[in-house]
Amino acid sequence: MALRSLIAGTGGYLPARCLSNEALAEAYNLETTDEWIIERTGIRQRYLAAEGESTSDMATVAAREALAQAGLGIEAVDAIIVATATPDSAFPSTAVRVQQKLGMTHGFGFDLAAACTGFVYALGMGDSLIRSGQAKGVLVIGAEVFSRILDWTDRTTCVLFGDGAGAVLLVAGDVEADQGVLSTHLHADGRHGDILQVDGGAGTTGQNGLVRMAGREVFKHAVTKLASAVDEALTANGLGHGDVTWLVPHQANRRIIDGMGKKLGLSPEQVVVTVDRHANTSAASIPLALAEATRDGRIKKGDLVLMEAIGGGLTWGASLARF
Ligand code: UT7
Repeated sequence: MALRSLIAGTGGYLPARCLSNEALAEAYNLETTDEWIIERTGIRQRYLAAEGESTSDMATVAAREALAQAGLGIEAVDAIIVATATPDSAFPSTAVRVQQKLGMTHGFGFDLAAACTGFVYALGMGDSLIRSGQAKGVLVIGAEVFSRILDWTDRTTCVLFGDGAGAVLLVAGDVEADQGVLSTHLHADGRHGDILQVDGGAGTTGQNGLVRMAGREVFKHAVTKLASAVDEALTANGLGHGDVTWLVPHQANRRIIDGMGKKLGLSPEQVVVTVDRHANTSAASIPLALAEATRDGRIKKGDLVLMEAIGGGLTWGASLARF
């Protein structure tokens, strides 16, 4: 038997306002088409936060669902990690805002910045807290309001992203070593920082910057770096492609997602896809996809789930978990 982080519950939240590609193009007067966006990205629509709706508001709803699914109360949580590139403010951290909204007065919380790889990083950190005995229950959340850091005149970025939040509740269990989070493999290479960045911030310009992306460059990195992270995760656990029940990838581009599914030899049904409906919700995309696929009964107890992501930094990584 071994101390492992079991995934006790998942939750997700999407804002009420949903915009199709056509509605978006019209609302922001963009020179783009539904056909271009679908063909290049697979995105058909996205959800956008209401005025006044914050990252911590969305994160809190997702966290409540994860707790409810686990049948556990807030006393089961010792730590909250919020992966986000769009925190409510520099401080207090979004995690501590969530703590307060959940009515939790014990434990600790912090935000984690790894852009679109944020959830994979946060899952690794949450798992480490549990394995080291520092926490028995960790809410691992990815939550974003990217709509507030988009340049709505830049068609090369603003059509790609959406808002939302997803959460996973990790709880410590003394179980077989191949249960729960098996391992997480994290990478970063700051030399490529400029190809996907926010062009300002509290410590430089003193103002929120906006998202800038050299999409084609990022795409090339994504294909090779995600493939090597996935192989690294499987090899570390003595597993092969055929052992994977579900691929739950970061949802940036349908072409990247389909390419990874093929590389792993998975059937299209084994790949959880939300990018068509959610667009790219950055750190929220994987936990939102996990929430959807557990809610609808696709991911079951005992299934091996492979997660992978790449984002600004560049940061990238992969994680394997047995549900
Ligand atoms: O989540 C973090 C990680 N991010 C990613 O993994 C994103 C990776 N990159 C991508 O998904 C793709 O590169 C994009 C979807 C961003 C772009 O697709 P692409 O096939 O690489 O297109 P491109 O950037 O090479 O642009 C092709 C053309 C350009 O016109 P020219 O230069 O060929 O005349 C763009 O100006 O498409 C044009 N274009 C558009 N046209 C209509 C760019 N955006 C749009 C648009 N509507 N919204």
